[in-house]
Amino acid sequence: MTMPDSPAVAVSVLSADFAHLDVALEAVRSSGADAIHLDVMDGHFVPNISYGPAIARDIVRASGLPCHAHLMVDDPERMFPAFVAAGATEVVIHVEASGDLLRVLDALHRAGVARGLALNPGTAIETLFPLLDYVDSVLVMSVEPGWGGQSFLPEAVGRVRRLRDEALRRGLSLRIAVDGGVTLENAAALGHAGADAVVVGSAFFASPDRAAFVASLRGVG
Ligand code: DX5
Ligand code: ZN
Repeated sequence: MTMPDSPAVAVSVLSADFAHLDVALEAVRSSGADAIHLDVMDGHFVPNISYGPAIARDIVRASGLPCHAHLMVDDPERMFPAFVAAGATEVVIHVEASGDLLRVLDALHRAGVARGLALNPGTAIETLFPLLDYVDSVLVMSVEPGWGGQSFLPEAVGRVRRLRDEALRRGLSLRIAVDGGVTLENAAALGHAGADAVVVGSAFFASPDRAAFVASLRGVG
């Protein structure tokens, strides 16, 4: 069982005040977080709509941090090139999305960006197993995608463990990240189960001391 000393921390800016995005980005930068997590919602794959590639590009440029695009969209093949062009260093598509996922993963690889696959809480973790040779990371959703600020679904811990076991059995150096409702209370269990990154949105922005919050998240492994 892998037990990372120091899980990477990506901040979802979904819960930021978009009227003051510069303030939010400075908060992320000065917190020492590793990356920014961009939640892209199309109103079809999930009922909500967030933002598209133009805003993603501005965040990439203004933040100076690696930015991961989490595409909660149908037909990611049509959408992903705009996020690669926007400067995302990793593009994550959903295993439940329509279209030829392997073709998208191959195109992402050829474009030189990291390839991630996300899966919803209701999707069997084994669905991913045939695809693990073609990805750099898996994003285990610990809430139903669509909104920030939801409560963590504790089944995610066991799902991370099953995925880590499978990756170890096959000798894959898979990065496993967890997204949704992550707090200091549940991050330790995720780290012990084999997650090496967490995404935090509302808990980050609600924290009075973001640098201390990020340091504590890293300390839980
Ligand atoms: C949910 C998003 C998450 C989420 C993270 O659809 O993928 O990234 O907003 O935010 P919190 O930490 O508030 O759940
Ligand atoms: Zn996300």
